[in-house]
Amino acid sequence: MAASDNDLKNVHIRTGKMSDAKKILNIQRDVVIENEYLISVSEEFSKNIEQQKEWIQKILKNERETLLVAEIDEEIVGWLAFQSPNLQRLSHTGSFGMMLHKGYRGLGIGTSLITELLAWAEQTPLIEKVSLGVFSTNIQAINLYKRMGFIEEGRKKKEIKLDENKYVDDVLMYKIV
Ligand SMILES: CC(C)(COP(=O)(O)OP(=O)(O)OC[C@H]1O[C@@H](n2cnc3c(N)ncnc32)[C@H](O)[C@@H]1OP(=O)(O)O)[C@@H](O)C(=O)NCCC(=O)NCCS
Repeated sequence: MAASDNDLKNVHIRTGKMSDAKKILNIQRDVVIENEYLISVSEEFSKNIEQQKEWIQKILKNERETLLVAEIDEEIVGWLAFQSPNLQRLSHTGSFGMMLHKGYRGLGIGTSLITELLAWAEQTPLIEKVSLGVFSTNIQAINLYKRMGFIEEGRKKKEIKLDENKYVDDVLMYKIV
């Protein structure tokens, strides 16, 4: 897949559905294989299509959670999932993960997905705090989150060990909505 600036005009953000499971899983697999941005490594990533469907169903059934996909010409090029703990004292919070197919980054699609997430969160009184964790080396993502109003609340130092003597911090960010 190759992307152009024109794609941004055709990007459509919508709520995910069960039938998106395979495409969402494929993007996730590809990003795991890239081996740069996620905690799981390929050998640990064993999610199958049935598990992915269950995961989507659980999110769609929970009024404090949401799944968004970015589509170009009916092809899913990225997704964002926001999940909230089922504990009374944490239920006003939630965190999200997102990823785009490699060929579609840097075009503003991530911005569109987060804009939609924040609009949803603002209309969802049960959610008051939106959080995320990101590798300290993922500058493009950190810049995007800052630009969208997220604030760093701390860092888990040397939380992720990439290799012998190669560590990155887990940067925790939040936005009150
Ligand atoms: C992180 C990620 C989701 C961000 O999405 P994205 O679509 O690339 O982000 P955006 O394009 O909206 O913004 C990122 C950069 O692209 C550029 N950009 C934004 N809008 C643009 C536009 N209309 N035209 C061209 N470039 C644009 C900007 O330089 C921006 O950087 P800035 O924030 O320093 O200004 C995506 O890069 C990705 O999938 N990365 C791999 C997986 C990953 O890291 N996931 C997050 C784990 S925490």
